[in-house]
Parts: sequence; structure tokens; C-alpha cells
Amino acid sequence: MTRTSKRRAKSREWARTQAADPWTKRARNEGYASRAVYKLEEIDKQDRLLKTGAKVLDLGAAPGGWSQYCERKVGETGLVIAVDLLPVNAGCTLIQGDIRDQEVIDQITAALDGDLADLVISDMAPNISGVVVTDEARFEGLLDVITVSLPIFLRPGGKMVVKLFEGRSAHGFRAAMKPLFDRGVVRKPKSSRSNSREFYMVYSGFKPTKAKNHTKTTA
Ligand SMILES: C[S@@+](CC[C@H](N)C(=O)[O-])C[C@H]1O[C@@H](n2cnc3c(N)ncnc32)[C@H](O)[C@@H]1O
Repeated sequence: MTRTSKRRAKSREWARTQAADPWTKRARNEGYASRAVYKLEEIDKQDRLLKTGAKVLDLGAAPGGWSQYCERKVGETGLVIAVDLLPVNAGCTLIQGDIRDQEVIDQITAALDGDLADLVISDMAPNISGVVVTDEARFEGLLDVITVSLPIFLRPGGKMVVKLFEGRSAHGFRAAMKPLFDRGVVRKPKSSRSNSREFYMVYSGFKPTKAKNHTKTTA
């Protein structure tokens, strides 16, 4: 089997698994753009993240399940800003671009209009190459942007939910976040595939003053 046909077979297998997946079917029936919504819903129920009128920044928002859920929870008086490389299918404020670009950071600041978010959520994941070292480095790059930009986006006392993958990047990020928040807890929602290395960290009580001395999590 050639590399291309192996890749095709893998993607056919993925499509079959997706089609049979009960969370995918439920998302379709309930009008959500992705099955990922049920991960955030479960975390929200447990950790009471989203309130009417809240300001939320959603990083890596496409196709849009998390943003749609947030919009419903924060209502008309709230604000949801969705950022992704790809188009997001939601009715909130949309910023299409790479979070690593200063232009995108500036657009987020403008969308916050002099205010700060109550909650930052990140379900970002880079394209996987299959080469562990490369994938770790790509993911660390995204996590670094979150760490460095937090004081620009998140209000003192604010909360954050972030997807991590077991390994070096998660270890470094968790160590970097420790002094910046009062509390950090691990969550592995039921709809997160059991064979996936992904898990979520839920942080509360952001302490921006501690962020001043922050150094990058990676070399
Ligand atoms: C698992 S998906 C997010 C699913 C989303 N939470 C939902 O509910 O539909 C991960 C997203 O991260 C985005 N992403 C990866 N790298 C990014 C970057 N550098 N800047 C912005 N978005 C990025 C990808 O384009 C992808 O859409």
C-alpha cells in the first residue's frame, strides 16, 4: 500500500467512525456545528463557567460548536469572539486568522473594545503531522501564544478552559499556569474519545500581576 492510499484508507475509516458516533448524530440533530460542543457543555455544567452577560474569547473555534453553545448561554447582553484559521459557523463576532499573528491579537483587542474577557476557552489543535517532535513543537507554539496574551485578554479573577495533549507541552503549560491562577483542575469529558490523549484544564482566579515575570514555556 502506498503512502497516499494509506492516508485515504485512514480518512475513510475516520469518516465511518464519525458517521456512527452518537455525539456527532446528537450534534447534527440539535443544530450544533460539531460534537465538541458536548465536551464544553459537560465542563460548563460541572464548573459553572458561563453566565448571562459574560464576555467569552473562543480560540480555535471552527467549525463552531463551542461558540454556538457560548452564544446561547451568555445571551444578548454577552459577547462571544470566535477566532480560527478556518471559517466559523456561528452568529457571534468572528475573526478569521492565525492566533500567532499580531494582527489577529489586535483584532481581538479591538473586538473587546477596551474591556477584558471573563472567560477564555481554547480547543485549538494544530494539524497533526504524525511526527511526535514536530507536533509537540507546533502545539507548544500555540500554548505560548495563549500564555503570553492572557493579560491582554482575560480579566483579573477570570477563568480559562484549555485543551491539552498528554506529553511535554501539557507539562510545560501546566507549570507555567500554576502561579497565574488560584485553581486548575483536570477534566476528561465523556464525549472526549477514550483513546485520545486530549484532556482539558479548567483554571479559575486569574492573577495578571503574576504574569509579568512570565518566561516562555518552551525553549
Ligand atoms: C478541534 S477544532 C475546534 C473545535 C471547536 N471547539 C468546535 O466546537 O467546533 C481545533 C481548531 O483549532 C484551529 N487552529 C489551529 N491552529 C490555529 C491557529 N494558529 N490559529 C487559530 N486557530 C487555530 C483549527 O483550525 C481548528 O479549527
